[in-house]
Amino acid sequence: MISKEKINEIKQAVNIVDVIGETISLTKAGRNFLGLCPFHGEKTPSFNVVEDKQFFHCFGCGKSGDVFKFIEEYRGISFSDSVQVVAEKAGIELEQQAVVQRERQVHPHQVLFDIHAEAEKFYHALLMTTKMGAEARQYLHQRGLTDEVIKHFQLGLAPQEQNYLYRHLSGKFSEQDLLASGLFNPADNNLIYDAFQGRIMFPLTDEHGRVLAFSGRIWQQKDSENKQIAKYKNSRSTAIFNKSYELYHLDKAKASIKKSREVYLMEGFMDVIAAHRAGIDNAVASMGTALTREHVHHLAKFCKKVILTYDGDAAGQAATAKALEELQAFQVEIISLPENLDPDEFLARNSEELLHQVLTNSRISDVEFLIQYLKPENPDNLQMQIDFVDQIAPIIAKNKSITAQNSYIYKVADVLPDFDYGQVEAAVNHLRVNERQARSQMISSSQPPLTTFGAELPRQARLSRLVRAENHLFYRMVTHLYILNDYRLREDFAFFTPELQVLFELLKEHGEVTAYDLAQQTEQVQRAWYQVLEEKLPEEVGENELEELERRRHQEQLKRENQQKSRVIREQVHVGNTEAALDELAQLIAQKRKME
Ligand code: CTP
Ligand code: MN
Repeated sequence: MISKEKINEIKQAVNIVDVIGETISLTKAGRNFLGLCPFHGEKTPSFNVVEDKQFFHCFGCGKSGDVFKFIEEYRGISFSDSVQVVAEKAGIELEQQAVVQRERQVHPHQVLFDIHAEAEKFYHALLMTTKMGAEARQYLHQRGLTDEVIKHFQLGLAPQEQNYLYRHLSGKFSEQDLLASGLFNPADNNLIYDAFQGRIMFPLTDEHGRVLAFSGRIWQQKDSENKQIAKYKNSRSTAIFNKSYELYHLDKAKASIKKSREVYLMEGFMDVIAAHRAGIDNAVASMGTALTREHVHHLAKFCKKVILTYDGDAAGQAATAKALEELQAFQVEIISLPENLDPDEFLARNSEELLHQVLTNSRISDVEFLIQYLKPENPDNLQMQIDFVDQIAPIIAKNKSITAQNSYIYKVADVLPDFDYGQVEAAVNHLRVNERQARSQMISSSQPPLTTFGAELPRQARLSRLVRAENHLFYRMVTHLYILNDYRLREDFAFFTPELQVLFELLKEHGEVTAYDLAQQTEQVQRAWYQVLEEKLPEEVGENELEELERRRHQEQLKRENQQKSRVIREQVHVGNTEAALDELAQLIAQKRKME
């Protein structure tokens, strides 16, 4: 990693005309330099190098960029390698150590990451190499974890001592930083204690694999018998740890989530570990909290399908129903393990192959789950049956497939002694009509939204064409760094939608929109962000996708301007100012002709 300042310094130190001039013969043409484009075969030069703005652009193939981009493309190397190359040309030292130092100053919380990295190493070494670790490891072995698994998850041990970790770290970090890490507690007697004592430690990472916090589980017999002691204890919230956003194991699960396009959401750390043992790596868990909206938006960065794999007990089923509400924008399937087991308990009684099979093949749809979950406790109570039909009918009617609706209707009729298929169907049919009307109203609604992201207008279909095009474009910037980089270079580019422009600025600055940045924004901006995340687009960017978006954006903007002009003309006519109206009209006609 090279700091932004350094990159700027390097860029300032060279002239793009000289750098490109080393490989391509350029001739001065007015204020620019012209040559044959190296990126596409051509006989008449259309490759421009603009000296005062320090960028290149080819009118033939459309390629453009700054000096780094040129080296990147020309040599087929990465951005950071191209920075190295240009730095060399500029005679600027890029000593690795100096770069790390600078980065450390740039990230305001780097020291907290460093403390956690040290703590993770320390706890892990204690577990793996010491005598007291051997006993704790014994506990994990009994639970079916091999040393290999322990290593993979970097589990550790916080010894049953007051300040073991503190003594290890106090020479390396300031007291202030150590206290800010959440790993220590000050006491009245001026001493500082380890927050975790006598626990097996699960490092909690962000999606990039940086340790942010820990969760510790009791393991000694004496603690398990003591009802006062919580089984799991998490780090408190800190500047880097927000447990409503982070998901356990997301860093390691990321690749396999993207590949399979789905993620298993589980309740516990040990369940995620069980899935890994069964060969399933796209599993994550929230950390002792119910699934929050922030978690959901975090997941949306990676896929659009969640397989809820909560515990089979009553609490797990209730949590599933609640998660379904949060996951409306996702496709959801549910796995209910037999006999109220969680995945870890299932694996304790069955083979890895069987867990793998259950996790892959025993899924039910969200509607099937809700039929099971909501069905009357007492099936003979008529009022309960009626209430249930009222509750489930709208859920069934929402389903887009009529075939699926029919089979759900059968299932509902099946569990109700006083209803037959026709009666349940009648209830659903009634709603089908309403659904359809609502849907067609939504599509034909020509009413422009009051604000671009009004609270009552959450649906994509209700967004204006301009906002939709801009959402799409912004989504591409988020998911494809090279697109963001292209737009970064275009100084004249700005989103018309103000909320997106705010997000764009954040993205340009940090390369991502973090939960922390987002939290500082207005409600509207936050909503705009989530709206973007809801875009359902193929991973691959289409050949003319960006050009098409540009075109649409441009057209929509012109259309808005034209509407504005028409309004002015009407007003002018209204007050008898015909001459001015004619002037405006001429402009408008010229404009419209251009658009055709
Ligand atoms: N949890 C917590 N605090 C507790 C109990 C649970 O934060 N006192 C969180 C932990 O993240 C835990 C998850 O809730 O992983 C699920 O809890 P539970 O089902 O009780 O634990 P298991 O996952 O079954 O843990 P284990 O198998 O180790 O008993
Ligand atoms: Mn368990």
